[in-house]
Amino acid sequence: MDNEANNLIKEKDLVMLYLDERRQFLVQAISGLRVSTDHGDLNLSQIIGQPFGFIGKTHLGRDFFCLKPSTADLMMKVKRTTTIVYPKDLGYLLLETSVGPGSRVIELGTGSGALTMVLAKLVSPTGTVYSYDRRDDFIENAKRNLIHVGYANNVEFTCADVAREGFSQTGVDAVFIDVPEPWDIVPKAYEALKGGHHLVSWSPNVEQVKRTIDALEAQNFKCIRTKEIIEREILVRLQGVRPRERGITHTAYLTRAQKILVAQQQE
Ligand SMILES: C[S@@+](CC[C@H](N)C(=O)[O-])C[C@H]1O[C@@H](n2cnc3c(N)ncnc32)[C@H](O)[C@@H]1O
Repeated sequence: MDNEANNLIKEKDLVMLYLDERRQFLVQAISGLRVSTDHGDLNLSQIIGQPFGFIGKTHLGRDFFCLKPSTADLMMKVKRTTTIVYPKDLGYLLLETSVGPGSRVIELGTGSGALTMVLAKLVSPTGTVYSYDRRDDFIENAKRNLIHVGYANNVEFTCADVAREGFSQTGVDAVFIDVPEPWDIVPKAYEALKGGHHLVSWSPNVEQVKRTIDALEAQNFKCIRTKEIIEREILVRLQGVRPRERGITHTAYLTRAQKILVAQQQE
């Protein structure tokens, strides 16, 4: 009972309103707000004070379910100005770093902020995400996305072309790179990283991966590995169980590497 008392939907909480697979709405619970769907309007006053898991009704009598949004839901529902990092890729790459609460990490580019929000959640409450993009309008959109989900507090944004200007920080725990030309960033990332720590990079094309790995090898990075994560959803239905025919078939190749210090001369 105590657990359910802690599980009540409060004013301004984020809630995933789920009618069916095609109708899922990430909303802030605000009294009096109405969400219109082709199955009727949802009045959010009815869900405030109810527990997550509550079943509400549209004004046409259709059930909807009040779900706790997952981190992947938050990523996929950002307002997009760019392509974003996908949950399947980020899940793998985060485990390839040592990032956790209290870490200081650099991200390039901010884009729509999908990666930024996950990093901000992971390093909180005492860590910091330093997020760079050369487009001020993209940073502004990403800031709004982060404020919407409540993860803006431990993010510092910088508008700069990092290929020319580099990063301002040193001694960071990881550098995440999602730009078309990662090879230009590799020397800047080397300067910013702590020894032994991780650089990770996303690239949609093999040619980009090859140039990035050449740059990593030239810059004293080791343990360089590239993987592709292939995801297949399985439809489990009475008429037969099989993979879904359509979906996103390719996102990016994922590269990880670790910084080695320059060898000291022995006396
Ligand atoms: C694919 S988007 C990043 C998407 C982001 N990871 C997300 O999940 O929302 C790439 C971003 O990198 C920025 N960018 C590309 N090259 C850059 C550079 N040299 N310096 C700063 N930003 C750069 C672009 O403006 C763009 O916003």
